[in-house]
Amino acid sequence: MTTLVSQGAEGRLFETTFLGRPCLMKERFKKSYRHPVLDEKLTNKRLSQECRMLSKCRSLGIRTPTVYYVNNKTNTIYMEYMKQTVVFKDFVDEHVAKGERRVLADLCFNVGYTIALLHNGDIVHGDLTSSNVLVMKRIDKYDCVLIDFGLSTNSSLVEDKGVDLYVLEKAFLSTHPNSQDLFDKILAGYCSAAHSQKVVMSKLSEIRLRGRKRSMVG
Ligand SMILES: Nc1ncnc2c1ncn2[C@@H]1O[C@H](COP(=O)(O)OP(=O)(O)OP(=O)(O)O)[C@@H](O)[C@H]1O
Ligand SMILES: [Mg+2]
Repeated sequence: MTTLVSQGAEGRLFETTFLGRPCLMKERFKKSYRHPVLDEKLTNKRLSQECRMLSKCRSLGIRTPTVYYVNNKTNTIYMEYMKQTVVFKDFVDEHVAKGERRVLADLCFNVGYTIALLHNGDIVHGDLTSSNVLVMKRIDKYDCVLIDFGLSTNSSLVEDKGVDLYVLEKAFLSTHPNSQDLFDKILAGYCSAAHSQKVVMSKLSEIRLRGRKRSMVG
């Protein structure tokens, strides 16, 4: 049986099975408003980046869905369906509502730590939001799983790493108002493991200033 999980602007996701295993099928569809050649190139690029990075992350010790199969003709990835996970966004909303900030603080630290592993391996995610992290319950703690690598790149540039965190900060604080304390935990987790945490943090401050100036000027 194949069930629709999510329908986004760029593609559709279905829950199905692959060789008897629970599988998530992610299909990117053609965009009629884009030039067909450009569209094909962009779609292929995102597909191949997503597969490459999902696998590379595992060698960095980051939990990501295992890629089972890729169909370049239909632009579809078949990957492990992460059962018993909750989208980080929903997890935050639920635990904020219940006032369980202690659990959230630990999880946010873990999310930051995981992003540091990613950046230490010179991968920039490109679309860090609380919808692109899944939360998995372990016996005594929660682990995080990173997904949605279509916009990711290989980069060792401090600027790119700073922008990755800035994108997350903007997205996180607008999705979860009054949660600066939780975002600070993400940064604390990041700083606990990132090789170049000092320079990335000062770059992040610089990018924030640039962002503020831009919004003042309009
Ligand atoms: N491997 C997986 N296992 C379980 N659920 C998943 C998995 N991958 C994605 N999902 C679910 O589907 C949602 C959308 O996935 P994803 O973020 O990869 O797609 P998207 O945002 O539509 O992609 P894109 O931005 O590349 O168009 C996730 O928020 C999550 O709820
Ligand atoms: Mg997504």
